[in-house]
Amino acid sequence: MERTLVLLKPDCVQRRLTGQVITRFENKGLNIIALKMLRITPELSRQHYAEHVQKPFYPGLERFITGAPVVAMIVEGLEAIRVVREMLGATSGLKAAAGTIRGDFSSSRQMNLVHASDGPEAAAREIDLYFDEGEICAYEPALVQWFKAGDE
Ligand code: CMP
Repeated sequence: MERTLVLLKPDCVQRRLTGQVITRFENKGLNIIALKMLRITPELSRQHYAEHVQKPFYPGLERFITGAPVVAMIVEGLEAIRVVREMLGATSGLKAAAGTIRGDFSSSRQMNLVHASDGPEAAAREIDLYFDEGEICAYEPALVQWFKAGDE
């Protein structure tokens, strides 16, 4: 089992797409084990996007990500980090394949609706940034036997 940090960004919240995006993860059989709404501060943005802070697009990214509430989630499942990234599609909504979340709902590179951790180290760091241990509600889904075989 892997855990990944997923952020439904301000454009996702403002466009009333949070329900549709969460439904995709639920339909896939992924398990949401933590979820909350928050407003990202400039400081949290700089921590989250530390690798992008020096890039020319960062000021615009910070204005965008702090401009309205986001929904933060921890999503758990087999190979969840890769599976969720593939469900999101390419960074730019214009390049993302049809059938992916960005490919179906976004036409922007910045306003690409959803963020997900890009590897195990990023997932651990980002989960820690957004959630305390006590906010995580891991559980065994009752329908698990209908989502995968026992030896998977
Ligand atoms: P995300 O997956 O959250 O990771 C970094 C974010 O920066 C990315 O999604 C986009 O929202 C944004 N981003 C990446 N590249 C660019 C770019 N060239 N111009 C503007 N925003 C970008």
